[in-house]
Amino acid sequence: MTKIIKINPANIDTDLLAQAADVIKHGGLVAFPTETVYGLGADTFNEKAVENIFRAKGRPMDNPLISHIADISELERFAREIPDSALKLANEFWGGPLTIILKKKEGIPDCVTAGLDTVAVRLPSHSIANALIKLSGTPIAAPSANLSGSPSPTTAEHCIKDLMGRVDMIVDGGSSMIGIESTVIDLSGELPVVLRPGMISPEDMRSVIGEVIYAGEVTGAPKCPGMKYKHYSPDAKVYVLENMTEYENLAEENQKVCIIAKNTAETSYKADLIYDAGADDREYAARLFYLLRKADEDGADVVFAEMPGEDGIGIALRNRLFKAAGGRVITNE
Ligand code: TXA
Ligand code: MG
Repeated sequence: MTKIIKINPANIDTDLLAQAADVIKHGGLVAFPTETVYGLGADTFNEKAVENIFRAKGRPMDNPLISHIADISELERFAREIPDSALKLANEFWGGPLTIILKKKEGIPDCVTAGLDTVAVRLPSHSIANALIKLSGTPIAAPSANLSGSPSPTTAEHCIKDLMGRVDMIVDGGSSMIGIESTVIDLSGELPVVLRPGMISPEDMRSVIGEVIYAGEVTGAPKCPGMKYKHYSPDAKVYVLENMTEYENLAEENQKVCIIAKNTAETSYKADLIYDAGADDREYAARLFYLLRKADEDGADVVFAEMPGEDGIGIALRNRLFKAAGGRVITNE
């Protein structure tokens, strides 16, 4: 049985949210909103509970989880060394959509880190996430609250669709504001390396700690174990187009065609489904996973999605879209 509770993030009913904290304290699973996407949480230090996260999502055990904390001081429970760069980034971007990888301290269950020598930590900005961590009295290990292989959930409805009957509780706190997952930066090596781009861009971090490596879409062995799995992909075939008029040449007869593009009111697409992605890449990011899920619900055979810009959150958007497209990226060259 999955219980659903509704919480207003602007005016948290602490007694009601305490029910979710009780579930965490007793080793249960709770889906809850963060500013990026919904997470599926359990007590980081309860091995059995964390194992159940993998079971509920159908997630491979070799894909480690992020531990969510409510205060910077809790970093000490996780990291055996806290480099200066970590403190600088934490002070600048926490609470917020940044996950920091550090050399792990003893005592963190192996299933949280998938047996790695490093650990991922994030302090979210979402009021409900913060309150839940505090009320639970423990850091919360949480991957995105989707079934493995489907797009990350940005609403409680998405969690209900994927996880009803598989988790103890879903906290409905409205839509996630950012819409794509946190930036993951690895500070456990000699140089800071971005493993997963997010709203906080390499440029943003360079202005705080200097050199930051981001290999872009250059492939090779995936650094973030999770990045090697087929991710974010809807059933419909996705194309990313630099020139949106290309869709007319690519669409096949009898296909249900879906367009995802910015400022659709200013254009005249001829398609079965026309989804507006907003006015800029920030709005595009907030809607992307919602729209990819909607394309499947509406029975689209093929999705033509507009290429985002190449800076700021556009970097992260491209990363998620290119994965959803599985290589079907059509540039102007
Ligand atoms: O915004 C987010 O990060 C959301 C919310 C819920 O916080 N969480 C999220 O978790 O996206 P998940 O599990 O879906 O993605 C975490 C990523 C995975 O790609 C995982 O492989 C990577 O972080 N990761 C976790 N621990 C790691 C480690 N020690 N070394 C390298 N990568 C790690
Ligand atoms: Mg995920």
